[in-house]
Amino acid sequence: MPLRKLKRNTIDSSMAGKHNELVIAIDGPAGSGKSTVSKLVAKALDVVYIDTGAMYRALTLKAMRNKIDLKDEGALTGLARSTEIDLKDGPGSLKVYLDGEDVAGLIRTPELTNNVKYIARVPGVREEMVRLQRSIGQRRGAALEGRDIGTVVFPDADYKFYLDADPAERARRRHKELVEAGQAVDLADIKKDVISRDESDMTRSVGALKKADDAILIDTTKLSIDEVVKKILSYIK
Ligand code: DC
Repeated sequence: MPLRKLKRNTIDSSMAGKHNELVIAIDGPAGSGKSTVSKLVAKALDVVYIDTGAMYRALTLKAMRNKIDLKDEGALTGLARSTEIDLKDGPGSLKVYLDGEDVAGLIRTPELTNNVKYIARVPGVREEMVRLQRSIGQRRGAALEGRDIGTVVFPDADYKFYLDADPAERARRRHKELVEAGQAVDLADIKKDVISRDESDMTRSVGALKKADDAILIDTTKLSIDEVVKKILSYIK
């Protein structure tokens, strides 16, 4: 049975990210298991899965295609305001629409992954992304994964989780994913990349990666995907 109506929120109408449907925030660093876990949690609860990282990635793709100077915050903000990004939860795969084009298969290359930080640190870009994420999340109940869901996008989420794992384990997972996707990548390079992404995610001035005070911390280093999903659902059901 869908659990969407499990809890109705009674919050001050001036509060950001207000919602009437079930909202679950799942934050954490790269490789903590957020994507796989969030998809399964969304499915179990019959709510929409929202991969907010895919939205920052899609905008990065457009900036690269348009050869925008990635240090030009004004241009990047303008780009965010004039771009349509939407997500559609398909069976087994998420479709990511950039101005109507499904770009899901184009947004996970190492070059693009390294460039997302320039886009994700711009306040005007984040404002636009947060607005979009709230409007998608408010349409129906949702499980949103990202870095700032519990702190900025839905500070009033019904449930908040923060997934973490040792950097070596996170690098190993990312490496496996990329190799399975047919990319020739070196584990040592991936580890360096994971550590440098943690650094830029945690230190940017807006929307930094941070555990919300009221989020439940789950260390996934030694847990299987199934165990993490069960743990999360045990708090909800
Ligand atoms: O989850 P991911 O690795 O696909 O995210 C890609 C990048 O997007 C990541 O380096 C940080 C950024 N991001 C963000 O700044 N805020 C979010 N809510 C989600 C992702």
